[in-house]
Formats: sequence, C-alpha cells, structure tokens
Amino acid sequence: MEVERFLDEVLSRVTAFLESSQLESKIRTGQSHDSLSRTSDLKLPMEGRGLEAALDDIESVLRDSVRTTAPGFMNPLWGGLSISSIAGEVVAAATNTAMYTYEIAPIATLIESTILSRMAELADFGTSQGTLTTGGSNGNMLGMLCARQAKLPLSSQTGFDGSKMVAFVSEESHYSFNIASNVIGIGQSNLIKVRCNEHGQMRPDSLEDEIQRAVRNGFTPFAVLATSGTTVKGSFDPLRELASIAHKHDLWMHVDAAWGGSCLFSSRYRSLMDGIELADSFCWDAHKMMGIPLICSAFIVKDAEVLRTVCSNGNTAHYLYLETGEDVDLGRYSLQCGRRNDALKLWLAWREIGDAGWASMLERFMELADYLEKQVDEHDALEMVSDRMWTNVCFRYTGSSEQGELNRINTELRQRLIQDGRFMVSRSHVDEKIILRSVIANRNITEESLDSFIDCVVALGKDIERGLPQE
Ligand SMILES: Cc1ncc(COP(=O)(O)O)c(C=O)c1O
Repeated sequence: MEVERFLDEVLSRVTAFLESSQLESKIRTGQSHDSLSRTSDLKLPMEGRGLEAALDDIESVLRDSVRTTAPGFMNPLWGGLSISSIAGEVVAAATNTAMYTYEIAPIATLIESTILSRMAELADFGTSQGTLTTGGSNGNMLGMLCARQAKLPLSSQTGFDGSKMVAFVSEESHYSFNIASNVIGIGQSNLIKVRCNEHGQMRPDSLEDEIQRAVRNGFTPFAVLATSGTTVKGSFDPLRELASIAHKHDLWMHVDAAWGGSCLFSSRYRSLMDGIELADSFCWDAHKMMGIPLICSAFIVKDAEVLRTVCSNGNTAHYLYLETGEDVDLGRYSLQCGRRNDALKLWLAWREIGDAGWASMLERFMELADYLEKQVDEHDALEMVSDRMWTNVCFRYTGSSEQGELNRINTELRQRLIQDGRFMVSRSHVDEKIILRSVIANRNITEESLDSFIDCVVALGKDIERGLPQE
C-alpha cells in the first residue's frame, strides 16, 4: 500500500472520528477494564500483519477511545481541539527530530524560542530563558530545582541533605509539588502547606507565620510556590503580596500557572495574575486551556544561568553539544536528552488565531462558566460549593435529601454519569463535601450542551433519591 493512499485512509478515519464526536451523544463506550481487555486484539504478532491491517487497528483504537473533543467532556483541565495544532503534531512526527541542538532541529529551535519569548513577554518577565517540558508537574519540579540552586549553588555538584530545607505551597496546590519534593530531595514532609482563605487563595499572613516558624525551628526556607489557577477551585493566589514576602526573606518565588496562565492574554482577566512579573519562574500548560494536544507545557525563568546550571551535564555530552551551538542549543536548558518538538503545534495554532483569538477563546470559556454557575444557582436541586474565579464550576446535587446523605448521593451520581456516557466531569471534594467539578476548557461546549448536562445531573440525582436503578 503506497504511503499517500495509506495516509489518506488514516486521515479520513481521524476526520470521521472527530466529526462524529460532535454528533454522537456518547463520549465513551463504557466497557469495563475486564471486558475491553477480553474483547480487544492487542497481541504483538510474530509475523507482521502489514500496513492494510494497521487501518483496522486504527479503527478499533478510535472506537474505544474517549471522545475528548465532545461538548460533554468537562472532566480534566483540558479538552476540545485546535485543528492547526493537530497538523503540527503530524508535521512534528513526519520531521521527527530531537530538540537538543540547533544543528538537528534548526527551524524547530527558532520556533520554540519564539514561543518561550512571547510567553515570557506576556508575563512581563524581561530577559529570560525557558524550555518546553513534559508538563506542569515537570515545570513545578524545575521551579523547585532552580530555587534549590539559587539557595545552595553547590548542591547540583555536591548533592545536599534536604532534611532541613523547606518550601511553601498553598493547601490547595497541585500534587506535583509533593512529588517534586521527593525528587529534589527535601521530602514531602518539608513541603509546608499554607492555609488558604475562603476563596481558596494562599493567605499572605499565614505564609509569613509559616516562614517565621520554620526559621525558629531551625529550618532553611528556600521557595514560595504560588498557584495561578488551582486544580479544584480554580483560585489565583495573590502573587504581588506573596512575592514581596518571598523576596523579603530571600526566597525564590515560582508560580504554577499550568492552568491559569492563559488569563495573561485577556485585558479583562490578566489582573488575576497581578504581580507575575515579580516571580522568579513560572510554568504554563498550553495543553490545558489553550486546547493544544497533550503535551505542550512551558517553564520560564528570569535567570537563565540558574536553569543552565540545573540542567548541566558537566560537559560529558561532548558527542552532542559542540561549541558552535553554545548560544543556541536548547538542550542546555532541559533535563531531557531526546525531546519532542512540542512547539510546532502551539506555534501553528498561535499563528492561526493570534493573541486576540486566545483572549476571546478564554473570555468565551468564562462566559460559559458564568452560565453554568447561574444554572446551578437557579436550580433548587443543586448548589455551588465554592466561589468561582476561573472556569472550574464546583457544585453538588442536593435534591430533597438530608445533608448526611449528600456525599453518598453525589458519589453515586458521578458513577452513573460516567455509565450514562454523555458527560464526563470529575469527582472531587471541597472540605468534607463530595462535589462534581466541571471545567470549561473545551471549545465545543455550548449553552445548549450545558443545559443538557444540568438536566442529566438532576434526572440521575432524582433516580438515586427514589432508589431507582440505572437504566
Ligand atoms: C494547578 C496544576 N498544576 C500543575 C498540574 C500538572 O500539570 P501536568 O498534567 O501538565 O503535569 C495540574 C494538572 O492538572 C494542575 O491542575
């Protein structure tokens, strides 16, 4: 089978999948792990099956994949689709390269540098350096590593005993900071969770108290890790106040803007990150609100030298990094060796819609989140369970049940919602309350799809209250 016909066939199946995702009501087939593993033919054969058979395999994969571009998909902090960025994925695969040197990835290096500079500029970072990473988790870890490097410049050479080093995050921060605390060697118990106010934002007065307490107890603080857009509530920490406390104590300030970074495009919402220019580093996931296919995530730091030291290979990679690439090789600022060209898909999408397009996209998301919040507020069987700053809409079904019953009902409701297959949202909790967290980060969501979602939640909630089994 010749290449052109094969690729045409692949494309027609992908196009059909994407189109049907907008029309079909089910987001997922709902097969259990057991049943799917029994019914799928995934064996790796002794003798190859040929290219024609790959088309059948592609069809089965598409059939059993979750339709993350469907309007009912509101589960994680990403969804939807940018067609130009899909083209970027295809071209990146076809031009298969690694991002370590300019020599091997000339145009891709320039594209990645263009993107990093523009993101830094949006945060008023001035001269800076960055890298695309494997995600916000990795960006947060790099932020902590840079902070460690700034406090203990020899630690990257001599290692360090992190048992007395502490960093501060809000109690609403992402779990990647816990993992990073393990990886960078301070241990999870030395990651101090600072209290939040009723809006889910880190409290500056509590941060100040925690820093002073740590010092009194003989610990060495080295980083304040703020969040712009928390995972569950979508809260934005007060960066300006936190940065002034961090710098007063000579601490590195990193901002996890994996989820909220896109507010920087909008004159209406960029004040949510007021003070970002005072931070030392931040990360921002373009694969979240910007709808770029996973993975596409930036880490940006003001002091290039700190990142370069953190990523130093001690001149052992003499076969790769030559003196001619000293100033242009991006691999000198990355923890990875081989690294995908993730910049291309973002660059194509950005060129397609421009800053103005990103701004109107996120403003539309906010409009839809306002709409959903209003529907919840106006329905007497539903209640919001946290304030909204971003597009996270955290609510629960209350119906006519006792308070004590609501966690059981909402847990079951979420399970039934998944079995029903038309909508996906995540289950989480706020304080002791089990909640449904729906997130608007998918450009195919509409007011109509949100109306159907509300109808579906209420109908399932009523069935559970009446003790009816799922249909
Ligand atoms: C606030 C926040 N930071 C970081 C991350 C981690 O991002 P990634 O999945 O790209 O590693 C997430 C993931 O949802 C997040 O919500």
